Amino acid sequence: MEVNTMRNSILELLRASGLEPVSGEKISEQLGVSRTAIWKHIQALKDEGYQIESVQKRGYILREAPNRLFPQEISSHLQTKWLGRSICYEDCVGSTNNVAKSIANAGCDNGLLVVAEEQGAGKGRLSRGWVSPHAKGIWFSVVLKPPFLPQEASKCTLLAAVAVVKAVNKIQGVNAAIKWPNDILLNGRKLVGILTEMNAEFGHINYVVIGTGINTHGEPEDYPEDVRDIAISVADVATEPFTRVELLADILKNMEELYELACEQGFTPVLEEWRKYSCTLGQEVKVIAPDMTCYGTAIDIDEEGLLIVKKTDGELEKVVAGGVSIRPAAAQNNAYA
Ligand code: BTN
Repeated sequence: MEVNTMRNSILELLRASGLEPVSGEKISEQLGVSRTAIWKHIQALKDEGYQIESVQKRGYILREAPNRLFPQEISSHLQTKWLGRSICYEDCVGSTNNVAKSIANAGCDNGLLVVAEEQGAGKGRLSRGWVSPHAKGIWFSVVLKPPFLPQEASKCTLLAAVAVVKAVNKIQGVNAAIKWPNDILLNGRKLVGILTEMNAEFGHINYVVIGTGINTHGEPEDYPEDVRDIAISVADVATEPFTRVELLADILKNMEELYELACEQGFTPVLEEWRKYSCTLGQEVKVIAPDMTCYGTAIDIDEEGLLIVKKTDGELEKVVAGGVSIRPAAAQNNAYA
Protein backbone atom coordinates (compact mmCIF):
# COMPACT_ATOMS: atom_id res chain seq x y z
CA MET A 1 0.00 0.00 0.00
CA GLU A 2 1.29 3.47 -0.89
CA VAL A 3 2.48 5.61 2.07
CA ASN A 4 -0.28 8.23 1.79
CA THR A 5 -2.97 5.61 1.35
CA MET A 6 -1.64 3.82 4.43
CA ARG A 7 -1.68 7.01 6.52
CA ASN A 8 -5.17 7.89 5.30
CA SER A 9 -6.37 4.41 6.27
CA ILE A 10 -4.88 4.83 9.75
CA LEU A 11 -6.62 8.20 10.10
CA GLU A 12 -9.91 6.65 8.95
CA LEU A 13 -9.65 3.93 11.58
CA LEU A 14 -8.86 6.48 14.30
CA ARG A 15 -11.66 8.80 13.21
CA ALA A 16 -14.20 5.98 13.10
CA SER A 17 -13.28 5.02 16.64
CA GLY A 18 -13.69 8.52 18.09
CA LEU A 19 -12.46 8.73 21.69
CA GLU A 20 -12.08 4.96 21.99
CA PRO A 21 -8.39 4.01 21.52
CA VAL A 22 -7.50 1.78 18.55
CA SER A 23 -4.71 -0.68 19.33
CA GLY A 24 -1.57 -0.86 17.22
CA GLU A 25 -2.31 -4.56 16.88
CA LYS A 26 -5.75 -3.97 15.39
CA ILE A 27 -4.42 -1.37 12.94
CA SER A 28 -1.56 -3.64 11.89
CA GLU A 29 -3.95 -6.56 11.35
CA GLN A 30 -6.39 -4.48 9.32
CA LEU A 31 -3.73 -2.90 7.13
CA GLY A 32 -1.47 -5.94 6.88
CA VAL A 33 1.75 -4.29 8.10
CA SER A 34 3.86 -4.63 11.25
CA ARG A 35 3.16 -2.72 14.45
CA THR A 36 6.55 -1.03 14.08
CA ALA A 37 5.51 0.25 10.67
CA ILE A 38 2.25 1.55 12.17
CA TRP A 39 4.21 3.30 14.93
CA LYS A 40 6.39 5.00 12.29
CA HIS A 41 3.33 6.18 10.34
CA ILE A 42 1.81 7.53 13.55
CA GLN A 43 5.02 9.51 14.22
CA ALA A 44 4.91 10.89 10.67
CA LEU A 45 1.27 11.94 11.11
CA LYS A 46 2.19 13.67 14.36
CA ASP A 47 4.94 15.52 12.48
CA GLU A 48 2.27 16.69 10.01
CA GLY A 49 0.38 18.23 12.95
CA TYR A 50 -2.08 15.48 13.87
CA GLN A 51 -2.54 15.30 17.62
CA ILE A 52 -2.54 11.57 18.26
CA GLU A 53 -2.51 10.40 21.84
CA SER A 54 -0.91 7.07 22.75
CA VAL A 55 -2.83 5.48 25.59
CA GLN A 56 -0.71 2.86 27.36
CA LYS A 57 -1.68 -0.72 26.49
CA ARG A 58 -4.84 0.50 24.73
CA GLY A 59 -3.72 2.21 21.54
CA TYR A 60 -4.12 5.50 19.75
CA ILE A 61 -6.73 8.28 19.82
CA LEU A 62 -6.97 11.05 17.25
CA ARG A 63 -7.44 14.17 19.36
CA GLU A 64 -7.22 16.85 16.70
CA ALA A 65 -6.47 17.23 13.02
CA PRO A 66 -4.10 20.02 11.97
CA ASN A 67 -5.49 23.26 10.62
CA ARG A 68 -4.60 22.30 7.08
CA LEU A 69 -6.65 21.63 3.98
CA PHE A 70 -4.97 18.27 3.39
CA PRO A 71 -6.80 16.16 0.77
CA GLN A 72 -7.54 13.44 3.34
CA GLU A 73 -9.13 16.05 5.62
CA ILE A 74 -11.26 17.47 2.81
CA SER A 75 -12.27 13.99 1.63
CA SER A 76 -13.28 12.92 5.12
CA HIS A 77 -15.77 15.82 5.27
CA LEU A 78 -16.88 15.81 1.64
CA GLN A 79 -20.49 14.98 0.82
CA THR A 80 -20.31 15.35 -2.94
CA LYS A 81 -20.58 12.77 -5.69
CA TRP A 82 -17.99 14.17 -8.11
CA LEU A 83 -16.98 17.71 -7.16
CA GLY A 84 -13.68 17.73 -5.28
CA ARG A 85 -13.28 13.98 -5.53
CA SER A 86 -9.97 14.58 -7.24
CA ILE A 87 -7.78 17.04 -5.32
CA CYS A 88 -4.52 18.80 -6.05
CA TYR A 89 -3.17 20.23 -2.78
CA GLU A 90 -0.16 22.53 -2.44
CA ASP A 91 1.20 24.34 0.56
CA CYS A 92 2.15 27.36 -1.52
CA VAL A 93 1.49 28.11 -5.19
CA GLY A 94 1.43 31.19 -7.38
CA SER A 95 -2.26 30.95 -8.21
CA THR A 96 -4.62 27.99 -7.83
CA ASN A 97 -6.39 29.17 -11.00
CA ASN A 98 -3.17 28.82 -12.98
CA VAL A 99 -2.49 25.37 -11.54
CA ALA A 100 -6.07 24.31 -12.35
CA LYS A 101 -5.75 25.59 -15.92
CA SER A 102 -2.53 23.71 -16.57
CA ILE A 103 -3.99 20.48 -15.18
CA ALA A 104 -7.15 21.02 -17.24
CA ASN A 105 -5.08 21.68 -20.37
CA ALA A 106 -3.34 18.34 -19.88
CA GLY A 107 -6.77 16.71 -19.36
CA CYS A 108 -8.80 16.19 -16.20
CA ASP A 109 -12.28 15.21 -15.11
CA ASN A 110 -15.15 17.55 -14.37
CA GLY A 111 -14.87 18.61 -10.72
CA LEU A 112 -11.12 18.73 -10.06
CA LEU A 113 -10.29 20.79 -6.96
CA VAL A 114 -7.03 22.71 -6.58
CA VAL A 115 -6.43 24.12 -3.12
CA ALA A 116 -3.46 25.84 -1.49
CA GLU A 117 -2.65 27.14 1.98
CA GLU A 118 -1.02 30.19 0.45
CA GLN A 119 -0.78 31.91 -2.92
CA GLY A 120 2.28 33.92 -3.78
CA ALA A 121 0.67 35.50 -6.84
CA GLY A 122 -3.08 35.19 -6.24
CA LYS A 123 -5.06 36.77 -9.06
CA GLY A 124 -8.04 39.06 -8.72
CA ARG A 125 -10.35 40.48 -11.35
CA LEU A 126 -9.22 43.23 -13.68
CA SER A 127 -5.55 42.19 -13.35
CA ARG A 128 -5.51 42.96 -9.65
CA GLY A 129 -3.77 40.75 -7.14
CA TRP A 130 -5.37 38.73 -4.37
CA VAL A 131 -3.70 38.61 -0.97
CA SER A 132 -3.66 34.99 0.20
CA PRO A 133 -1.77 34.56 3.50
CA HIS A 134 -0.80 31.11 4.74
CA ALA A 135 -3.73 29.14 6.27
CA LYS A 136 -5.66 32.38 6.83
CA GLY A 137 -8.24 31.71 4.17
CA ILE A 138 -9.54 29.21 1.67
CA TRP A 139 -7.89 29.72 -1.70
CA PHE A 140 -9.25 27.21 -4.19
CA SER A 141 -10.22 26.60 -7.80
CA VAL A 142 -12.52 24.05 -9.34
CA VAL A 143 -12.55 22.87 -12.93
CA LEU A 144 -16.02 22.48 -14.42
CA LYS A 145 -17.05 21.37 -17.88
CA PRO A 146 -20.56 22.80 -18.13
CA PRO A 147 -22.88 22.10 -21.03
CA PHE A 148 -23.54 25.86 -21.35
CA LEU A 149 -22.56 28.10 -24.25
CA PRO A 150 -19.40 30.19 -23.81
CA GLN A 151 -21.47 33.37 -23.51
CA GLU A 152 -23.27 31.80 -20.55
CA ALA A 153 -20.10 31.04 -18.60
CA SER A 154 -20.69 33.96 -16.22
CA LYS A 155 -23.54 31.85 -14.82
CA CYS A 156 -20.87 29.70 -13.20
CA THR A 157 -19.68 32.72 -11.22
CA LEU A 158 -23.19 33.49 -9.99
CA LEU A 159 -23.69 29.86 -9.06
CA ALA A 160 -20.40 29.83 -7.14
CA ALA A 161 -21.33 33.02 -5.29
CA VAL A 162 -24.61 31.46 -4.14
CA ALA A 163 -22.81 28.29 -3.04
CA VAL A 164 -20.32 30.27 -0.96
CA VAL A 165 -22.73 32.75 0.60
CA LYS A 166 -25.09 29.96 1.69
CA ALA A 167 -22.23 28.10 3.37
CA VAL A 168 -20.67 31.09 5.16
CA ASN A 169 -24.06 32.29 6.36
CA LYS A 170 -24.61 28.95 8.09
CA ILE A 171 -21.90 29.96 10.53
CA GLN A 172 -23.49 31.77 13.46
CA GLY A 173 -22.92 35.51 13.42
CA VAL A 174 -22.23 35.69 9.68
CA ASN A 175 -24.62 37.55 7.42
CA ALA A 176 -22.91 38.08 4.08
CA ALA A 177 -24.46 39.19 0.79
CA ILE A 178 -23.56 39.02 -2.88
CA LYS A 179 -22.52 42.14 -4.70
CA TRP A 180 -23.11 41.55 -8.40
CA PRO A 181 -21.63 39.66 -10.00
CA ASN A 182 -19.06 37.94 -7.86
CA ASP A 183 -18.08 39.65 -4.64
CA ILE A 184 -19.36 38.58 -1.28
CA LEU A 185 -19.50 41.39 1.21
CA LEU A 186 -19.92 41.41 4.95
CA ASN A 187 -20.63 44.66 6.78
CA GLY A 188 -19.78 46.43 3.51
CA ARG A 189 -16.32 44.85 3.40
CA LYS A 190 -14.94 42.21 1.08
CA LEU A 191 -15.11 38.67 2.42
CA VAL A 192 -14.89 36.65 -0.79
CA GLY A 193 -13.72 37.19 -4.35
CA ILE A 194 -14.39 34.92 -7.31
CA LEU A 195 -12.41 34.85 -10.53
CA THR A 196 -13.79 32.70 -13.32
CA GLU A 197 -11.62 31.88 -16.30
CA MET A 198 -12.67 29.96 -19.37
CA ASN A 199 -11.15 27.91 -22.15
CA ALA A 200 -13.60 27.71 -25.04
CA GLU A 201 -13.97 27.23 -28.73
CA PHE A 202 -16.69 28.70 -30.88
CA GLY A 203 -19.94 27.45 -29.35
CA HIS A 204 -18.32 25.10 -26.85
CA ILE A 205 -16.79 25.45 -23.39
CA ASN A 206 -13.75 23.19 -22.93
CA TYR A 207 -13.58 24.05 -19.26
CA VAL A 208 -14.24 26.78 -16.76
CA VAL A 209 -12.00 27.41 -13.76
CA ILE A 210 -13.82 29.01 -10.85
CA GLY A 211 -11.30 30.45 -8.42
CA THR A 212 -12.58 31.48 -5.03
CA GLY A 213 -10.78 33.30 -2.26
CA ILE A 214 -12.41 33.41 1.17
CA ASN A 215 -10.88 35.42 3.97
CA THR A 216 -11.49 33.21 6.98
CA HIS A 217 -8.87 34.09 9.58
CA GLY A 218 -6.97 37.05 8.12
CA GLU A 219 -5.96 39.77 10.56
CA PRO A 220 -5.13 43.39 9.72
CA GLU A 221 -1.38 42.72 9.70
CA ASP A 222 -1.90 40.03 7.04
CA TYR A 223 -3.05 42.60 4.50
CA PRO A 224 -1.23 45.46 2.83
CA GLU A 225 -2.44 48.88 3.95
CA ASP A 226 -4.62 49.56 0.90
CA VAL A 227 -6.64 46.40 1.53
CA ARG A 228 -6.66 46.46 5.35
CA ASP A 229 -9.73 48.66 5.69
CA ILE A 230 -11.78 46.95 3.02
CA ALA A 231 -11.19 43.28 3.80
CA ILE A 232 -12.99 41.28 6.47
CA SER A 233 -12.68 37.71 7.68
CA VAL A 234 -15.28 35.15 8.72
CA ALA A 235 -13.54 34.89 12.11
CA ASP A 236 -14.07 38.64 12.68
CA VAL A 237 -17.80 38.09 13.08
CA ALA A 238 -18.39 34.36 13.69
CA THR A 239 -19.87 33.67 17.09
CA GLU A 240 -19.21 29.93 16.95
CA PRO A 241 -16.06 27.97 16.12
CA PHE A 242 -15.70 26.82 12.52
CA THR A 243 -13.00 25.09 10.53
CA ARG A 244 -11.81 25.88 7.03
CA VAL A 245 -12.10 22.26 6.00
CA GLU A 246 -15.77 21.99 7.04
CA LEU A 247 -16.57 25.27 5.34
CA LEU A 248 -14.88 24.17 2.11
CA ALA A 249 -16.72 20.83 2.14
CA ASP A 250 -20.02 22.66 2.63
CA ILE A 251 -19.31 25.04 -0.24
CA LEU A 252 -18.46 22.17 -2.59
CA LYS A 253 -21.68 20.39 -1.64
CA ASN A 254 -23.71 23.53 -2.42
CA MET A 255 -21.82 24.06 -5.65
CA GLU A 256 -22.44 20.53 -6.87
CA GLU A 257 -26.14 20.75 -6.03
CA LEU A 258 -26.57 24.11 -7.77
CA TYR A 259 -24.57 22.97 -10.80
CA GLU A 260 -26.71 19.85 -11.19
CA LEU A 261 -29.86 21.92 -10.72
CA ALA A 262 -28.73 24.35 -13.45
CA CYS A 263 -27.88 21.47 -15.79
CA GLU A 264 -31.23 19.75 -15.20
CA GLN A 265 -33.67 22.65 -14.84
CA GLY A 266 -31.89 25.61 -16.37
CA PHE A 267 -30.66 28.61 -14.49
CA THR A 268 -33.94 30.00 -13.11
CA PRO A 269 -33.77 28.29 -9.67
CA VAL A 270 -30.14 29.38 -9.19
CA LEU A 271 -31.06 32.96 -10.08
CA GLU A 272 -33.89 32.90 -7.57
CA GLU A 273 -31.39 31.94 -4.88
CA TRP A 274 -28.96 34.60 -6.11
CA ARG A 275 -31.65 37.32 -5.81
CA LYS A 276 -32.30 36.30 -2.17
CA TYR A 277 -28.67 36.94 -1.24
CA SER A 278 -28.02 40.00 -3.39
CA CYS A 279 -27.15 43.36 -1.86
CA THR A 280 -26.97 44.96 -5.32
CA LEU A 281 -30.62 44.76 -6.34
CA GLY A 282 -32.47 47.93 -5.39
CA GLN A 283 -29.18 49.85 -5.10
CA GLU A 284 -28.15 52.98 -6.90
CA VAL A 285 -25.30 51.95 -9.19
CA LYS A 286 -22.81 53.56 -11.42
CA VAL A 287 -22.23 51.57 -14.59
CA ILE A 288 -18.75 51.88 -15.95
CA ALA A 289 -18.43 50.27 -19.37
CA PRO A 290 -15.49 50.76 -21.72
CA ASP A 291 -17.60 53.03 -23.92
CA MET A 292 -19.89 54.79 -21.45
CA THR A 293 -20.72 55.62 -17.86
CA CYS A 294 -24.26 55.93 -16.58
CA TYR A 295 -26.23 55.96 -13.35
CA GLY A 296 -29.35 54.10 -12.37
CA THR A 297 -30.95 51.53 -10.09
CA ALA A 298 -30.09 47.84 -10.28
CA ILE A 299 -33.53 46.27 -10.61
CA ASP A 300 -32.92 42.64 -11.54
CA ILE A 301 -30.69 40.03 -13.08
CA ASP A 302 -31.71 38.30 -16.31
CA GLU A 303 -31.55 34.65 -17.35
CA GLU A 304 -28.04 35.15 -18.71
CA GLY A 305 -26.83 36.65 -15.44
CA LEU A 306 -26.73 40.19 -16.82
CA LEU A 307 -27.60 42.99 -14.42
CA ILE A 308 -30.62 45.05 -15.46
CA VAL A 309 -30.20 48.70 -14.58
CA LYS A 310 -32.98 51.25 -14.84
CA LYS A 311 -31.18 54.40 -15.86
CA THR A 312 -32.12 57.84 -14.55
CA ASP A 313 -33.83 58.55 -17.91
CA GLY A 314 -36.02 55.45 -17.39
CA GLU A 315 -34.33 53.33 -20.06
CA LEU A 316 -33.19 49.82 -19.22
CA GLU A 317 -29.54 48.87 -19.64
CA LYS A 318 -28.22 45.32 -19.48
CA VAL A 319 -24.79 45.14 -17.95
CA VAL A 320 -22.23 42.41 -18.56
CA ALA A 321 -20.10 41.29 -15.59
CA GLY A 322 -17.03 43.42 -15.10
CA GLY A 323 -18.64 46.70 -15.99
CA VAL A 324 -20.48 47.88 -12.91
CA SER A 325 -19.49 49.52 -9.68
CA ILE A 326 -21.65 50.59 -6.76
CA ARG A 327 -22.03 54.36 -6.73
CA PRO A 328 -19.98 55.96 -3.94
CA ALA A 329 -23.10 57.59 -2.46
CA ALA A 330 -24.56 54.14 -1.76
CA ALA A 331 -21.45 52.31 -0.66
CA GLN A 332 -17.77 52.66 -0.09
CA ASN A 333 -15.75 53.78 -3.07
CA ASN A 334 -12.76 51.51 -2.88
CA ALA A 335 -10.49 49.37 -4.97
CA TYR A 336 -13.00 46.54 -4.88
CA ALA A 337 -16.01 48.62 -5.85
C1 BTN B 1 -11.64 39.34 -7.17
O1 BTN B 1 -12.51 39.66 -6.36
O2 BTN B 1 -10.96 40.19 -7.74
C2 BTN B 1 -11.43 37.87 -7.44
C3 BTN B 1 -10.46 37.24 -6.48
C4 BTN B 1 -10.30 35.76 -6.71
C5 BTN B 1 -9.26 35.13 -5.80
C6 BTN B 1 -9.20 33.64 -5.92
S1 BTN B 1 -8.19 32.90 -4.69
C7 BTN B 1 -8.23 31.37 -5.50
C8 BTN B 1 -8.15 31.65 -6.98
N1 BTN B 1 -6.79 31.74 -7.42
C9 BTN B 1 -6.46 32.97 -7.83
O3 BTN B 1 -5.35 33.32 -8.24
N2 BTN B 1 -7.53 33.77 -7.72
C10 BTN B 1 -8.68 33.08 -7.23
